[in-house]
This record gives sequence, C-alpha cells and structure tokens, in this order.
Amino acid sequence: MADLVAQGVAGKRVLVRSDLNVPLDGSTITDDGRIRASVPTIRTLAEAGARVVVTAHLGRPKGAPDPAYSLRPVAARLGELLGQEVAFAGDTVGESAHETVQALEDGQVAVLENVRFNAGETSKDDAERGAFADRLAALGDAFVSDGFGVVHRKQASVYDVAQRLPHALGGLVQAEVDVLRRLTEEPERPYVVVLGGSKVSDKLGVIDNLLGKADKLLIGGGMVFTFLKAQGYEVGKSLLEEDQVDVCREYLQRAAESGVQLILPTDVVVDTAFPSGDRTPEPRVVAASEIPSDALGLDIGPDSARAFAGALVGARTVFWNGPMGVFEVAAFADGTRAVAQALTEVTAEGGLSVVGGGDSAAAVRTLGFDEAAFGHISTGGGASLEYLEGKVLPGIQVLEDDE
Ligand code: 3PG
Repeated sequence: MADLVAQGVAGKRVLVRSDLNVPLDGSTITDDGRIRASVPTIRTLAEAGARVVVTAHLGRPKGAPDPAYSLRPVAARLGELLGQEVAFAGDTVGESAHETVQALEDGQVAVLENVRFNAGETSKDDAERGAFADRLAALGDAFVSDGFGVVHRKQASVYDVAQRLPHALGGLVQAEVDVLRRLTEEPERPYVVVLGGSKVSDKLGVIDNLLGKADKLLIGGGMVFTFLKAQGYEVGKSLLEEDQVDVCREYLQRAAESGVQLILPTDVVVDTAFPSGDRTPEPRVVAASEIPSDALGLDIGPDSARAFAGALVGARTVFWNGPMGVFEVAAFADGTRAVAQALTEVTAEGGLSVVGGGDSAAAVRTLGFDEAAFGHISTGGGASLEYLEGKVLPGIQVLEDDE
C-alpha cells in the first residue's frame, strides 16, 4: 500500500475492503477487535487525503437487505475509533452509496451497507459476481484489500473488484501474512499447535497438513468428541460428527506412526444441557472415557488443562485456533483460559505465539487477557487455517497475479 500512497491518493476515492465481521448482541458490538485492526489502513489513507470508501460484510445474510445484519453500528464504532465522523450509506451500490461517496471530501471516510445484501457478492456464477463487482468498482478509483478474514473467499468485493481497479495489499493483510509465514516456513521448534472449536470438519485440512509439520498437536473444544469416539469412547450427548470418526481414527494412527504427539483431554467438564440464559449450569468433571449418556462435554477438564499448559512449556512457536470449551459461560471457560495463559508464557520466554482469529481471538479479549501478551492475534479464523493448509487464498492471489 505504501506505493499507492506514495503515488498520491489525495482527492482519489479509495475503496477499502475491510473485515468488519464482528459479533453483535442486538446492535451492541461484543468484540470490536476486527474494527480496531482495520483502523490503521483507513487512517493512513485518510491522512494522505484519500476519500475512503469502506466495504465489508457482516454475518451471512441471504443476498438481500436484512436489518439484523446492518453495518450501521459498526460504522458508528469505526468513527469513534478513528476520532472522526464516518458517513454511512444505506445501500451498497445504489443511490445512497453514490450520494454518500460523492459528498466525501478529501480525508473523509464512508462505510457502505453490508456487501452481502447483494446476491452478486457471493455468487458462484462469475458473470453475476462480475456484474456486481462492476457496480462496486464504479465507487472507487483504486482498491485496497485489507480484510484478511475474507481473503480465502472468492467473492466480488474481495476478488473480482481487484481485477477492475488499480490495487494494493493493505497493511493488515501484509502484517498477517508476514507472521503466518513464520509458521509455515521453518518454524522454530518445538512447534505446538492447539486446535479447538466446534467442528472437526472445519479443521481436517489443517490437521492433515500439520501432522507432518508440528511437534505436538493438542485437541480440545467441541471437535474433540469425534476424536474420543474414534478412540472407542462413548460421548453421551456431546457434539459428534459421525461421518468424521473414521478420518479421526486415521489421524490418530498417522500421528502415532509419524512421531507427532497428538494430545487429547483425559477429563472433561460436562453438564446435562447446553448453557442457556435462564438455567444455572451444573458442571461436573468426568473422565474422557466415561462420559455419561445424558451428559454433554462443554470444556476440557482440570487435569487436561494442566497437561495442555505443560505441553506448551518450552515451545518456541505456537499456533492456537478454537476455544477449548464454551468460554462465554464462566463454568466452562477454564480450559480456554489455561491455554491462553500458557501462550502468554511462551511469549514471555521469547517464543512466537499466534492466536488464530475468530472465536479464540474473541476469547482472549473476553477473558481479560492483555493482547500485547501474545505474539500475534490474527483477525482471520478460516483464512489463517487455509493459509496454514497451504491453500491458495483468492483475495491475495488476485493481487499477486499481475505483479
Ligand atoms: C470470518 O468471520 O471468519 C470472516 O469474516 C469471514 O466470514 P465468512 O466465513 O462468513 O465468509
């Protein structure tokens, strides 16, 4: 982006694709990490005199306007963080967008309404996506790709628009890629990866890839129950992906053969129901091999939390993606807290600790950790996993194609 700024952006409309997909409770933003991470690029462009037009998505609306997914509260928060007024367009490429962009003066910023209110954004049909990208491109003179969390999506505002305007990689995407490269190109050893979150099917590619690269792989979160089932245990009412049990069994076998230490919890915290607002949790610790039929696992147990923390001592490189349990509820947050704490100790010892986006990034902030205690907190969950899988990320590839 430095080149673009050096060439002069004053008076130009610069379309910036940011990832402002933040968790909301009604219209209250519960974690503004992604908005804060997007500020430096927007500020740099505004200070250079650009008329900054921010485009982003929120959630997964069905290709049509839906007030529940409006970016209006996000635009307001962006204005607070930037310390300047941020205009908001009530549509993405329609009359409101054109009027709002036209009214911008040098150094001013506008946010367009949720780009996914338009079916063309996520269409699999190249022509439909292209037609929408044409309309988006009409709102800018140049394009900056700064939404790391979406670079793995071949979508109009990420991919196609870059083919239609002079473009540059934003500072956030560049910084993310620089750190993730340190995990894939000769990571300093021991290299430990901690995976959690609900679905094992989201993590198959990364596990497959890491079995040949990491020294230790620690697995917790909802996805662990499919592994426990593969070990021959009953998992009660816990999350289970039956169709992935055989794959998990194969991974256990491959880990044993390749010398990668694959560490699973030996105890879990269970309850008889998933936490809900009006019910007081009744947590119980049971052995991972003895989950009662009426119980569901909601966190790794205390012995496992200690073992996971112990496995991280002395690590020089750590990547963590996915909480160990339902950390939003205090009764099921201890496993996630123990892992986060262990990562801060890796950082304190001079190692590189990377928190891979999404829920784990939200978890470290919700649990009150100082962000500076981690080497890097990625803004991209799926994007960072796909990077580690070695996949081509369309939103980055499209910018490199003509360089
Ligand atoms: C994310 O939350 O990981 C990014 O914003 C991408 O969102 P998506 O998975 O809905 O494309």
